Amino acid sequence: MPVAEATISVMDRGFLFGDGVYEVIPVFGNKLLRPDGHLKRLQNSLDRISLPNPNDDDTWLNIFDDLLARNDGGDRAIYLQISRGAYQKRDLGIKTEYPPTVFAMVLQVVAPDIEKVSAGISVITVDDFRWAACDIKSTSLVANVMLKQQAVTAGVDDAILIKNCMVSEGTASNVFVVKNDVLVTPPTGHKLLPGITRDLVIEIAESNTILVEERELKEAELYTADEIWMTSSTREIAPVISLNSEAVGAGTAGDMWKRVMDLYQQYKQQLRSSNEKL
Ligand code: PDD
Repeated sequence: MPVAEATISVMDRGFLFGDGVYEVIPVFGNKLLRPDGHLKRLQNSLDRISLPNPNDDDTWLNIFDDLLARNDGGDRAIYLQISRGAYQKRDLGIKTEYPPTVFAMVLQVVAPDIEKVSAGISVITVDDFRWAACDIKSTSLVANVMLKQQAVTAGVDDAILIKNCMVSEGTASNVFVVKNDVLVTPPTGHKLLPGITRDLVIEIAESNTILVEERELKEAELYTADEIWMTSSTREIAPVISLNSEAVGAGTAGDMWKRVMDLYQQYKQQLRSSNEKL
């Protein structure tokens, strides 16, 4: 149905408590980007909040195919949200007799203009005051909203989150640093969301003999980095050219970014023109 006609109960726990999880799955042509990775992450998020998955993977894929068929055209993304449903009373305790609320829609995506993207983004560092369960793709995003607002107030595009002098991630993206031709990104765990774009960037880099280190990344390493990138389904790979008002590397998108971004675009193009789901 049209989004404007879709409604949910005011008693929905997604609305009352942010008690739900979500996914954003890019679609190129008619092909989902890494459906297995997204469905696996969805399962992890659901397991972590003790919410049974209402569908098996094949059912999800059929729902996505149906949605895409009804919302045809170009590059898109599927937004999927599952909340713990609407209970009769407002009560934190979980009750299993209420069905979850499932909501999915197709988002139109404007393919990033490579020239614009290569102009780069400016970021600040901010204190990552979030909880120790950031691997859950939770709809409770108020902390991320507050952190993003710190960037907006500072007049920059985004923020890199720092916890105990270590880099965790962006407000809605993962962080990579390039130093001496090696890619470094913090390891997955409870401090960050395991990004599907992050995984893909690592795979693309490694299969092109670029060295990747998944290890703790000190805040101080940001200041000596040759390049910094932020990756996500919507940002793809964004080069950071300014950090706390200081130039990153040469102050322009770096050579390694150009190389990996080019490989990433090739991967997307292959997906668009393939008949098989990758
Ligand atoms: N966010 N870290 C956080 C906190 C995120 O919200 C996201 C993505 C990522 C990157 O994950 P992926 O590569 O799978 O998109 C990392 C999505 C795009 C969003 O909230 O809209």
